[in-house]
Amino acid sequence: MTQVLSRYNNILKMEKIEEVYPLARDDMESRRLNAQHLLTVKACDGHLLDPSIPRHGIRSVADVATDTGIWLTDFANELTTSTSDSTNSPFEFTGFNISTAQFPKEAKPGFAFVAHDMTTPFPAQYLARYDVVHVRLVFSVIVKEQYPAVAENLLALLKPGGYIAWTEYQLDSIHDICPSSILTQFKSIFCKFLESANLSLKPMKEIRAALEANKVENIVEHDYVTFRQPDLAVETQAWLKAAFSALIPTAWVRLGEEKTIEAAAAKWPSYERKMEEAFEEGVVPACPVKSIVARKEGLKALEELSAEEMWQVLADGGWCCAVKRDGELGHRWRART
Ligand SMILES: C[S@@+](CC[C@H](N)C(=O)[O-])C[C@H]1O[C@@H](n2cnc3c(N)ncnc32)[C@H](O)[C@@H]1O
Repeated sequence: MTQVLSRYNNILKMEKIEEVYPLARDDMESRRLNAQHLLTVKACDGHLLDPSIPRHGIRSVADVATDTGIWLTDFANELTTSTSDSTNSPFEFTGFNISTAQFPKEAKPGFAFVAHDMTTPFPAQYLARYDVVHVRLVFSVIVKEQYPAVAENLLALLKPGGYIAWTEYQLDSIHDICPSSILTQFKSIFCKFLESANLSLKPMKEIRAALEANKVENIVEHDYVTFRQPDLAVETQAWLKAAFSALIPTAWVRLGEEKTIEAAAAKWPSYERKMEEAFEEGVVPACPVKSIVARKEGLKALEELSAEEMWQVLADGGWCCAVKRDGELGHRWRART
């Protein structure tokens, strides 16, 4: 109980520094976010990065609101083990977060973790530096009016022709994502909390509008929902239980439904039990995920273009000459449009 109370008290303290973010920044929350990452990736059919983004030529990646850096670490593993790129330029992975509390204790070579508030412009050394900027699950962090500034700041990190990939939960999913009365009740408390803090219930709408106000092209959206993967049922129940346990007592206090965090923490176990009973009776919630991708306008450097992209920039009848490495052997080829 003491541990639980100190956790919720830490969250409430953050209010005093005028931060809306409703979650703790302790080891328990890091573990919850890491487990949530695994489920979110599975929900997205196993894609760490939207499949519409070409992997060829990706050398520098920024993950904003990186938290424990788990997405960045997993994507770096995927990229560096799968790339067939023959260039020798080094990979660079940067995680940004407003707080350093949950950063990895040691950054591996090629990684940097940097404290920065994404609602303010990034320092000059990071501008136009990245091939991909990834951001995920910041709907409980960015108030409605901040989306345009955040989109502008994130796009400024990209090289011309680079991609932004932004993923959020879809609270306004057309699916019944909380299919029992107790889950519906918790979802409604969470939504009330978001509204009271001026956070959007439809983050994808805000994000799309904010991206479209900038020089971007090739906007693609993908919807995912775990209902389509019945083998994720138990994991989805565990995820929602952990998420509501982290959020609801704090929301009760912030909404004035409980006067003190002690009262909210004392009330929580009986509500948590009702949720567990619903799961034992076979209720399966869903994790609804939506991702949006956009490409920053402008041409990439020639050596970063894939064969397909090179083909697109050639004038009719133009020639393309290249050396393609295949293991130890180099093949020269040329072709004409
Ligand atoms: C729900 S966590 C998401 C973590 C991670 N992106 C993921 O998907 O696992 C939100 C993170 O945003 C961070 N954050 C809050 N406000 C921020 C800001 N203005 N700029 C950068 N990061 C912020 C919080 O510290 C927290 O680590």
